[in-house]
Amino acid sequence: MEIYKPAEDSYFLTEILKREMPQLLEENPDLTFLEIGAGSGIHLETALNLGIKRENIFSCDINPKAVSHCNMLGFHCIQSDLFEKIGGIFDIIVFNPPYLPEHQFDKKPDTAGGKKGDEIIIRFLQQAKNHLNKNGKIFLLVSSLTPKINFEEFGYNKKFLGNEKLFYEELSIWELSLK
Ligand SMILES: C[S@@+](CC[C@H](N)C(=O)[O-])C[C@H]1O[C@@H](n2cnc3c(N)ncnc32)[C@H](O)[C@@H]1O
Repeated sequence: MEIYKPAEDSYFLTEILKREMPQLLEENPDLTFLEIGAGSGIHLETALNLGIKRENIFSCDINPKAVSHCNMLGFHCIQSDLFEKIGGIFDIIVFNPPYLPEHQFDKKPDTAGGKKGDEIIIRFLQQAKNHLNKNGKIFLLVSSLTPKINFEEFGYNKKFLGNEKLFYEELSIWELSLK
């Protein structure tokens, strides 16, 4: 499987991280950052450029090619299905998930999030709370093509950070924190 090439969703998330992270870093210059599904490493680079220490940036991907690529860029990255092989607690967790409903022609794990499109996100929400610092924040991107998810039901407070309308869908980014 090829490495996910940054697209509108990636760029939108970059924009939000650039807007939100400086304040958080000011409050805590030792922020620890974890990205699930790092792909090309675009957000790892953003985190580093914003001032998060390289040794505090962690990531994983299910795709071994993406893992090797991010390692080559000098980032900690391991092959893991979501948090399966992740230990520890983080201040920031970022996920631009596969969120499209799977169909006959799109079963690629970088874009298809299960039959309905929310299966991976739901597994992420169930696991992420065990790896989030009590004052930590999750940055999660979802699409209007993903079934609507009730974040509170999974034990999170939510804050809407912005949306972007594309030709065939609308992307939204949420900040989630522990209740
Ligand atoms: C939409 S791409 C986003 C890539 C990159 N973060 C970006 O924003 O451009 C989703 C990424 O999640 C990875 N992924 C899919 N399922 C995963 C899983 N169960 N655990 C970890 N990573 C997964 C894919 O391989 C892909 O790199």
